[in-house]
Amino acid sequence: MIDLADPDTFLANDLTDFWRHLRHEQPVYRHPGTAQTGGFWVLSRHADLLAVYRDTEHFTSERGNMLDTLLHGGDSASGRMLVVTDGPRHRELRRVLLRAFAPRALRVVVERLQASVRRLVLDAARAGSVDFAADVASAIPLATICDLLAVPDVDRARILEWTSAAHGSENWLAVNEILTYFAGLARQRRDTPHSDVISLLATSEVDGKLLEEDEIILNCYSLILGGNETTRLSMIGGVLAFIENPEQWAALRDGLVEVDSAVEEVLRWTSPTMYMGRSVKSDVVLHDTEIKAGDVVTLWNIAANHDEAVFDQPERFDLARTPNNHLTFGHGQHFCLGAYLTRIELSTLFEVLRTAVADIALQGTPVRIHSTMLTGYSSLPVSLRPNPEGAARLAAPTTSD
Ligand code: HEM
Repeated sequence: MIDLADPDTFLANDLTDFWRHLRHEQPVYRHPGTAQTGGFWVLSRHADLLAVYRDTEHFTSERGNMLDTLLHGGDSASGRMLVVTDGPRHRELRRVLLRAFAPRALRVVVERLQASVRRLVLDAARAGSVDFAADVASAIPLATICDLLAVPDVDRARILEWTSAAHGSENWLAVNEILTYFAGLARQRRDTPHSDVISLLATSEVDGKLLEEDEIILNCYSLILGGNETTRLSMIGGVLAFIENPEQWAALRDGLVEVDSAVEEVLRWTSPTMYMGRSVKSDVVLHDTEIKAGDVVTLWNIAANHDEAVFDQPERFDLARTPNNHLTFGHGQHFCLGAYLTRIELSTLFEVLRTAVADIALQGTPVRIHSTMLTGYSSLPVSLRPNPEGAARLAAPTTSD
């Protein structure tokens, strides 16, 4: 049996056929529970995910969106952290945060991002062989989030250390350090606001009241939780897919496909967040199956992103694929707030790669991460053959970093 609650499952199996079987034969599949936890529903069809993501009458995020919390009695950040808050309070909190994610507000963040991606890729191309995960991808998303939060440069090494130690939320000591650190920043920014996300959260009202300190901190931390590892995994998985599909890489490098469609295909292909969870508020019927209030439902983005009813030849990595209505960022009320930023991070990386690098080859065995929620690689040893002309062009003009 395929146990979707066991991280080993994703290391030991290629689930392509399993997902195809569920989409065709068991679109509302009951996953068995264990001695400690109950079972849960597994949805895999694109159309069903769209319907459930939209259906806020029957489904809620307020008891969590990860199996871990959903099966163990709920999320302690419910009603305070955006992704596990619903209804009018979610709308208001999202409106506040959206201001910080508007393209105009992100101008400085994007400028810094472009400079640092150029520097990292040029260094890697010069070195010739690197671990693309550790030496390139790991530095980009966290630095971008630190820019969003205007974390002072001197503190960034500490944040990097804590987030690597925190591993999601498993190491409470490291998580605590991060939360305490943000509490300090929030207090400072309330008195002397800048134009960053922490200042926005510290000075904005929701329901006519300033946010509590713990709400500010949780929402800052949620940006690291939601936007760091996911983006990194899509970058690493994208480069591995370029290596495994050399004709697609050549098309990207030679300008035969647009960077924008390449970004969407990498997002579909890598699907770093495999699923999102919901709990059922009131009884509902899906494909003749009765789902009861209190049940846990999981929406497998990774399965929907290969649904042959929506994607032509879904098992083909096709950088020119259009349309490409993948569900990598979810859908509906909780659609990823960082989608625009992620797309810029990926397009910047791919644009710089295709200019500065002629060829990429694997130089060792990629290492997969161990998780039930995220998928991808933590190590990708590669060799890079630079394109000297392109690299020189990139190295020349900028002094902004
Ligand atoms: C929400 C995936 C990058 C911040 C979501 C959701 C998904 C997702 C699937 C929906 C959650 C749900 O329905 O329960 C991803 C992936 C990313 C990415 C795969 C990268 C490849 C980012 C970045 C940030 C971010 C860079 C911020 C810096 C958020 C936030 C939410 C969210 C705040 C909650 C939105 C809400 O509840 O209204 N993300 N995300 N994400 N994401 Fe992302």
